[in-house]
Amino acid sequence: MSSEVKLDPWGHISVKDYGWLMRTFGIKPFNEVLDKLREIAEPNRYMRRGIVFGHRDFGKKVINPLSKGEPVALLTGFMPSGRFHFGHKLTADQIIYYQKLGVKVHVVIADAEAYAVRKMDREKTIEIGLYEYIANLIALGLDPSKAVFYFQSNQKPTYYRLIQMFSRKVSLAEMEAIYGTMEPSKVVSALTQAADILHVQLDDYGGYKNVIVPVGADQDPHLRLARDISDRFHNELNLERPASTYHMLQRGLDGNKMSSSKPDSTIFLTDDLEVARSKLMKALTGGRATVEEQKQLGAEPWKCTVYDFYMFQLIDDDKRLQEIYDSCISGKLLCGHCKRNAWSILEKFLEDHQKKLEKAKDIVLKYVDPPKF
Ligand code: TRP
Ligand code: SF4
Repeated sequence: MSSEVKLDPWGHISVKDYGWLMRTFGIKPFNEVLDKLREIAEPNRYMRRGIVFGHRDFGKKVINPLSKGEPVALLTGFMPSGRFHFGHKLTADQIIYYQKLGVKVHVVIADAEAYAVRKMDREKTIEIGLYEYIANLIALGLDPSKAVFYFQSNQKPTYYRLIQMFSRKVSLAEMEAIYGTMEPSKVVSALTQAADILHVQLDDYGGYKNVIVPVGADQDPHLRLARDISDRFHNELNLERPASTYHMLQRGLDGNKMSSSKPDSTIFLTDDLEVARSKLMKALTGGRATVEEQKQLGAEPWKCTVYDFYMFQLIDDDKRLQEIYDSCISGKLLCGHCKRNAWSILEKFLEDHQKKLEKAKDIVLKYVDPPKF
C-alpha cells in the first residue's frame, strides 16, 4: 500500500497489511507488553495469538494503573447497522476480559453515526442496538450491572458540549489528511466518536484518566484524532491521551471481509443451527483439489477460514490448536472431518448462547435508556 492510501473507518479499504499500519502510524506491537501484562493477568487468547497485534500506551495507561490498583475505564462502540456476528464477538470477548480485571466498561451504540453516515432507519438502529448488540454482550458474559451502555443520540449535555468545543480546534484539512474526503455527516460523526472516547475523563462521567479503547484496526483514524484533540484540550479540560489496542478482523467464510451485509459468508450468533451448519460446511478451506493430493502434500491452514474459526473462536487451548495445525499441514487431517469437528464445537456454543440470549433480551431495558427522539 502506498503512503497516499488513507485508512477509511467507513469501510472502503480493508486492512490487509497490519505491518504497514504499524509502520505508518507508529502503532506498537502488542507482543512487547505481553510479559509485563502477565505480571498482573493472563493475556487472553487474542493477545497470545497476535490477533490483538498492536497498541498505543497500553503499558502506561492500562498495566501500570492496574498494578497499582488505580481505576481504569474501557470505552468501545458498535455501529448498530446489522446483526451481531463473530467479528463483533471478538470485541465483546475483550470487553468481558477487561471487566473481569476490574476495568469499568462503557459501551456506546453509534446510532447517530449509523443515521448520518450509513443512512439507517432510526427505529431499526435502536432495536438492533438493544436486542443485537447489548443483549449479545450480556449473553456472552458481560455483567450489565457493572457496565455503562449508552446511545450516541441519548447522552447528557456535557457530552454534546464536548463535540462543540472540539470543533474549534480541528481543521477540515487536518481531518481530510486523516480520513480522506470529508462531508458534514462524517465530520460530526468523527467529533462524536472523539467525544465517546474522551468523555469518560470528565467528572460527570467518572473522571477516568486511564482509558483503554479496544478496536478493530480500521478504527485507528478515530483514535489518532482523539489523541490530537486530547493534547489540545489538555489545559482547558485536563484531557489525556487514551490507550488503544488493535485487533485483526476475522475473515468471512469466503475469505473476504466479514460483514452483516454478506449473510452467506458470515455466521451470526442468532443463526438457526441448520443455517449456521450449512454456511460452515461451504466455507473456503486450505484443502487441496483431491484427497490424494492432500494426504501427500498436506493442506494450507493459513488460507483456511475454518482454521480461522478454530483460532479466533473455537479453541482456547494453544496446544490443541497447534495439534490441528500440525495434522492439517501434514495431510493427516482431511477437510470434511475437520469441518465436522469445528461444527460440533460451534453447535454447542450456539445452542447454549441462544438460550442465554433470550434471557438477556428480557433485561436489556433495565440497563440502558433508548433514545426517544
Ligand atoms: N465507528 C465505530 C464503528 O463503526 C463505532 C464507534 C462509535 C466507536 N464510537 C466509538 C468505536 C468509540 C470505538 C470507540 O464500529
Ligand atoms: Fe482447514 Fe481443516 Fe482443511 Fe486444514 S484440514 S485446510 S484446517 S478445513
